[in-house]
Amino acid sequence: MAIDTNDGQTQAPLKVAVIGTGLIGRKHIGLIAENPKLVVAATVNPNGAPADIAALGIPNFSSCEEMVRTIEIGGAIVASPNETHADIAVELIRAGIPVLVEKPIAGTVEQGQRIIAAAQEHDVPVLMGHHRRYNPILAEMKEIAHSDRLGALVGFSGVWSVYKPDPYYGAAWRTGATGGPIMINLIHEIDYLQAMFGRIASVGAMQAPKRRVHSSEEAVGVLLRFEQGIIGTVILSDSAASPWTWEQATGENDPTFPQNRQNPYRFLFERGAVEFPGLKIWSQPEPDWSALFEIEDRNRLVEPMRDAFARQIDHFHDVARGTAAPIVTARDGLEALNAAITVRQAIAGNGFLDVPPLG
Ligand SMILES: NC(=O)c1ccc[n+]([C@@H]2O[C@H](COP(=O)([O-])OP(=O)(O)OC[C@H]3O[C@@H](n4cnc5c(N)ncnc54)[C@H](O)[C@@H]3O)[C@@H](O)[C@H]2O)c1
Repeated sequence: MAIDTNDGQTQAPLKVAVIGTGLIGRKHIGLIAENPKLVVAATVNPNGAPADIAALGIPNFSSCEEMVRTIEIGGAIVASPNETHADIAVELIRAGIPVLVEKPIAGTVEQGQRIIAAAQEHDVPVLMGHHRRYNPILAEMKEIAHSDRLGALVGFSGVWSVYKPDPYYGAAWRTGATGGPIMINLIHEIDYLQAMFGRIASVGAMQAPKRRVHSSEEAVGVLLRFEQGIIGTVILSDSAASPWTWEQATGENDPTFPQNRQNPYRFLFERGAVEFPGLKIWSQPEPDWSALFEIEDRNRLVEPMRDAFARQIDHFHDVARGTAAPIVTARDGLEALNAAITVRQAIAGNGFLDVPPLG
C-alpha cells in the first residue's frame, strides 16, 4: 500500500525489521500493523519466530547478517535481550540501517559507546526506546518545575513496585545481572527524570533480602542526587505487589498493566507539591505549615494513554527517512545506562557513588 506525503507524492511504507520477537518485539509488530507508514518486512530470531508471528507470513532470519544479505530494509528495531543490543545495533548501523534500540541501550557503558561510535562513523541515526518521552505529561511537569509557580524543586519520592509473575522469568536472560528491575524498569524512570531535571550526579542504593535465586536485584531503595542539587528517592521492586507504577498510573500498557490512576510520585517544592503523573498540584503562595493548600487537579490520568509507543513508532519512521532528528538520542540512552549501572554498583557496596562523567 502506498501512502500520501505532504507534497502530494505517494511513498511505499518503510520496510522495517524487528530483531527479537518476544514481549516487546511482538508489541512493535502490532503497532507497525496499525501504522500505514511502516511495514514489518522481516524478523530476526535465531530461535525461530514464534508460531503466531510466523503465521503472519513475515520472513524470519536466523541472524542480521543473513537478513542484510537477503533483503533491503529501511529501519530495524532491536528488541532482543539487553546483552545482545550492541553487536546487533553495530552490525545494522554498519549496513546503513537506522535503528530503534530498546532500552537499555546495551549491557555495559562500553557497549553503548560502541553503538554511538558506529552511528557517528557511518552517519546512521539511532533512536532510543524510552517511549515514555512521548507522553505530554512529562513536558507539563517539566514546565511546572522550571517555572516559578511553586518555587524551587527540593526533591521527590517515588515508587515503582509490582510482583512479576514466575513465567516472566522463564526467559533465562531475565534472571541474569542485567535482567532485574534496575535495568528493565528503573532505567525508564532515570531517563525521564534526567530529561526533566538534568543529569544525575550521585546515587546511593541498598537492597532488601531476595526471595528468588537470581543474579539480579529484587527490591532496592535508591537515592538520586542531580547536578542541579535536587534529591530524590525511589523504592523499586519486582517482588512486591503495589498499585504504584507509571504503567498503572497512565495505562500506557493497559490491559497488561490495568490502569488505576494512582500517583506513584510526589514532587516537593518550596511553595507546594505535585502528585505525579496525574498532576494534582498543592500550593501555598505564602508557605506556612498552618495554612491550607490551594489545589489544582489537572487530572491527567482520565483515559489510558496507550499512544506513547505508537508515537515512538511514528517518530522512528521519520527518523529513518531522515526527516526528523531522534527525540531520544543514543547519548540519552547511554546517560540512563550509566546512572543505572552506578546504582547497581552502589548496591554492591551498600553505599554512595558519583556517576562517572561520560567522555
Ligand atoms: N520499552 C519497553 O517498555 C520495554 C518493555 C519490555 C522489554 N524491553 C526491552 O526489550 C528487550 C527485549 O525484552 P523482552 O521482554 O521482549 O524479552 P523476551 O525474552 O520476551 O524476548 C527476547 C526475544 O529476543 C530473541 N533473541 C534472543 N537472542 C537473540 C539474538 N541474538 N538476536 C535476535 N533475537 C534474539 C528471543 O528468542 C526472544 O524472541 C530488552 O532489551 C528489554 O529491556 C523494553
